[in-house]
Amino acid sequence: MDSIRVFAPATVANVTCGFDILGFAVENPGDEIVVKTCTKPGVIIKEIKGDAGRLSHAVHENTATISILNYLDHVGSDAGLEIYLYKKMPFGSGLGSSAASSVAGVFAVNELMGQKLRTEELLKFALEGERVASGSAHADNVAPSLLGGFVLIRSYDPLDIIKIKTPEKLHAVIIHPEIEINTKDARNILKKNVPIKSAIRQWGNVGGLIAGLTMNDFGLISRSMEDVIIEPVRSMLIPGFDQVKSSALEAGALGCGISGSGPSMFALSTAVDLATEIGHAMQDQFAQIGIKSEIFISEINQQGPIILD
Ligand code: HSE
Repeated sequence: MDSIRVFAPATVANVTCGFDILGFAVENPGDEIVVKTCTKPGVIIKEIKGDAGRLSHAVHENTATISILNYLDHVGSDAGLEIYLYKKMPFGSGLGSSAASSVAGVFAVNELMGQKLRTEELLKFALEGERVASGSAHADNVAPSLLGGFVLIRSYDPLDIIKIKTPEKLHAVIIHPEIEINTKDARNILKKNVPIKSAIRQWGNVGGLIAGLTMNDFGLISRSMEDVIIEPVRSMLIPGFDQVKSSALEAGALGCGISGSGPSMFALSTAVDLATEIGHAMQDQFAQIGIKSEIFISEINQQGPIILD
């Protein structure tokens, strides 16, 4: 094999109560990468499309190639690789765009090299790309994009990633309003200390959400989708947040919150038709304050990255 094209999915991180520890992958959107081998050793970015010229072509600055370089270093390879990156989702959207590119890149190169490492072992390389993109190596986008499914990061040191079973009927709607939020900024505004009362409520919700997912208990999922720590701060960055969230809940969502660091918001529902209705209700609210938005409806993507050709 001397060329490969890989798709890696977007992700919803945090999932309300699970800041930095919960995330799930969606079917669409996602990023694509083509990696070709060449005779001259070293990694070179040949083309980036869909970024409106905003991404660096310098391999030590681009999240996808940072991950690839870390991988090559680890396996002791001086392979010659040409990278073609196709961004298929908006920047600063809260959909895990940088994570999807990192995952696609490192997954593609591992395939080209005859799967030198297991998929789970690729996580630490993709995390290096995330560290550069957002100033922190949080795994709640990278892990679900790489492994697929709904993921709990039980521990960062050492990394302990657990895939959580989810009800088959579960559908997500993501709405991306046409505004941009930089993850670094959205992390910097967070309070550094959490009152014990809020912490107790939050970890009760995390436990409840995980239990609800594994037990197919939609009532419990719904009750647990509450974030008393991060959302009250970050929601101020999203115009119309309260109205949009209320409209999702009124339309029948199990719960609704910020996707990652925003501005995208997500809601969970029990059926695809209902998810579509919820999405339209949310979109109407954004429209009322003059904000255009795009909707994505998806089951939980259990697969993670896929080889396109
Ligand atoms: N957990 C991260 C955050 C996800 O909320 O900052 C960023 O996409």
